[in-house]
Amino acid sequence: MSDKYIVSLLIMLSAIFILSAPGFADGGKKIENACVNCHSKLSVSSFVGIKSHDWKGSIHQKHGITCDKCHGGNPAAMDKNKAHTGVLSSSNPESRVYYKNIPSTCGSCHGAEFYKFTQSYHFKKLEATGKGPNCVTCHGSMVTSVLNPDDIANVCVRCHNKRIGVFPYIPQKAKAVLLLLRQGKALLAADKELYKPARGSAEASYLQEAQSSLYSAKLQWHKFDLDAIVRDLQEMNNSLEKLSRSSSRP
Ligand code: HEC
Ligand code: HEC
Ligand code: HEC
Ligand code: HEC
Ligand code: HEC
Repeated sequence: MSDKYIVSLLIMLSAIFILSAPGFADGGKKIENACVNCHSKLSVSSFVGIKSHDWKGSIHQKHGITCDKCHGGNPAAMDKNKAHTGVLSSSNPESRVYYKNIPSTCGSCHGAEFYKFTQSYHFKKLEATGKGPNCVTCHGSMVTSVLNPDDIANVCVRCHNKRIGVFPYIPQKAKAVLLLLRQGKALLAADKELYKPARGSAEASYLQEAQSSLYSAKLQWHKFDLDAIVRDLQEMNNSLEKLSRSSSRP
């Protein structure tokens, strides 16, 4: 119960953060962003250029999450050096995009995922040793994609393998569970269209239940709790079964 409370509080706080973040003025109207303007002119043949162009087309670009939101700096300054005040290389431990600091940087907007992540063993390890998977391991730093099942296995196998001996079955299981999650998403989307329950009906509440189970399964990823994901997906399936039975009744 208290978990839920904290999660919703974090979501509220991040909503306030997003709305009040610089880069937006006059009730959401976007203002010029010097980081994006200048970096979009850089050649794709340089490292910085490649990184800059990676961001284009991402969900963050679509939502106005500009460079400064993760890197700091002054997005109103046209001059490079003025704009870069506070922008540090990711190899600098003070940087917001330094490996260890990434979860809290992303977490300032994605509070629910961050909160789950802090409950994981990997987070404790990351805090203590600076090693282990973090947000960009699975989502990329600028592209914000989600790894597919094969790629996720390759990430986990770096540490979970027979040679090192730490839970070598995990990569296979992570891959299988991500496949399940994807199927769950597809199934829910299909049933939603198939049954189109009327608002306020019992069927609508089954669909709602299924949706929250799926949301919870996604969150569990961030604690690396593979069994909890499977349980949440089973609950989702139960709700969808109720939906289908009750919808096909005369
Ligand atoms: C007038 C052009 C210009 C503006 C404005 C600008 N940059 Fe840059 N930025 C560059 C160039 C060029 C580089 C390549 C390295 C260098 O010349 O300093 C760079 C490098 C970087 C790097 C890599 C730093 C490193 O140490 O590896 C980051 C991160 C970055 N910029 C972020 C930003 C952010 C965030 C803003 C806005 C607050 C911004 N830039 C504004 C031109 C610009
Ligand atoms: C959602 C957060 C986020 C946004 C938005 C973002 N970046 Fe990054 N960026 C990161 C993270 C995290 C890293 C470091 C991790 C890595 O190397 O993959 C990084 C690395 C970089 C680097 C490599 C240099 C270094 O310090 O490692 C450059 C250059 C860069 N970003 C430029 C930009 C520019 C230009 C924009 C806007 C067009 C931008 N970024 C938008 C999160 C972001
Ligand atoms: C300033 C706020 C902000 C920061 C910082 C930020 N994000 Fe986001 N992110 C958003 C918004 C807004 C969206 C689009 C709406 C949504 O899905 O919440 C989004 C979407 C996403 C999505 C896709 C969600 C979906 O529904 O498809 C992922 C994954 C993601 N962000 C990961 C990251 C990672 C990883 C970092 C850190 C490197 C990060 N974000 C930093 C605001 C932010
Ligand atoms: C082990 C890999 C992994 C790591 C590490 C990870 N994520 Fe995720 N994340 C996922 C998967 C898998 C999903 C579900 C994607 C889907 O819907 O298909 C997801 C979904 C998300 C979403 C979208 C949620 C939605 O409602 O669609 C956001 C935002 C997000 N992650 C942010 C983060 C942040 C912030 C961190 C770091 C604190 C992080 N993730 C670390 C694997 C990971
Ligand atoms: C940088 C190394 C590293 C990577 C990469 C890594 N792990 Fe781990 N993981 C560990 C270590 C070390 C342990 C602790 C083993 C122990 O308890 O002795 C662990 C423990 C776990 C556990 C059991 C502990 C718990 O939190 O319940 C799970 C589940 C797990 N990892 C999942 C994953 C998944 C899924 C991936 C891929 C997305 C992954 N790990 C990637 C190092 C890593």
